[in-house]
Amino acid sequence: MGQLATGGTRNRCGWGHVAAALLLLGLTACRGGRSSSPPVHLQQNMMAQHRFGPQQANAFFADGRAMRTPPANTIADGELRESDHLYRGIIDGQPATRLPLRLTAELLRRGRARYDIYCQPCHGASGNGESILRARKMAVPAPSYLEPRLLAAPVGHFFQVVSHGVRSMPPYAAAIPVADRWAIAAYVRALQLAGHATLNQIPPDVVARHGWRMQ
Ligand code: HEC
Repeated sequence: MGQLATGGTRNRCGWGHVAAALLLLGLTACRGGRSSSPPVHLQQNMMAQHRFGPQQANAFFADGRAMRTPPANTIADGELRESDHLYRGIIDGQPATRLPLRLTAELLRRGRARYDIYCQPCHGASGNGESILRARKMAVPAPSYLEPRLLAAPVGHFFQVVSHGVRSMPPYAAAIPVADRWAIAAYVRALQLAGHATLNQIPPDVVARHGWRMQ
């Protein structure tokens, strides 16, 4: 009898443990566990479909690769860059001698703003190469735009230098959109004009307002 009673107590105790263990299992089961079957996906969408992952094999193609090379000369949607003048700064195979955009005060203002961010630290605010980095003795100093060779350079040359960089100067195509690169090129031209301007090229009221005099 005594044994039975004890057994009964043990049994009650046992069911309690089993229930608690099941509950715990229900709450924590599978955490950290691995399974090769797909997760339960109540709302089906395009994520759940038969497809090939990157670098997978596919016997359908002769070369056995699922990843296909696009046919030659394929252009992604919106990536057609037909105009050599606008995108490459080239006219008839030569660096462009004119802007592909209309020269307006707005374009120059934009060019100045972008120039002050991207070029001024090395080339100086007025483009004469006197910059904070030259003062700190940069290894290869950035040249002045007032050098005769750069004064004679076509505007497309500046677009190309900004796009591709030159020798130790890095390219800025990834940072500066095409239209802004032209705005900068136009502004560099304006700096070149300003650097060699004489007082009689400036409207008299502006000269008077600043009190400028010929030296
Ligand atoms: C990190 C410093 C740095 C910045 C920023 C920089 N440049 Fe330069 N740039 C140089 C250096 C250095 C050279 C000279 C490279 C050489 O001769 O090795 C140079 C050369 C040039 C030249 C002369 C190219 C030639 O034909 O020899 C032009 C034009 C020019 N930069 C324009 C720009 C413009 C426009 C920007 C802004 C978008 C700009 N640079 C930003 C450092 C810089």
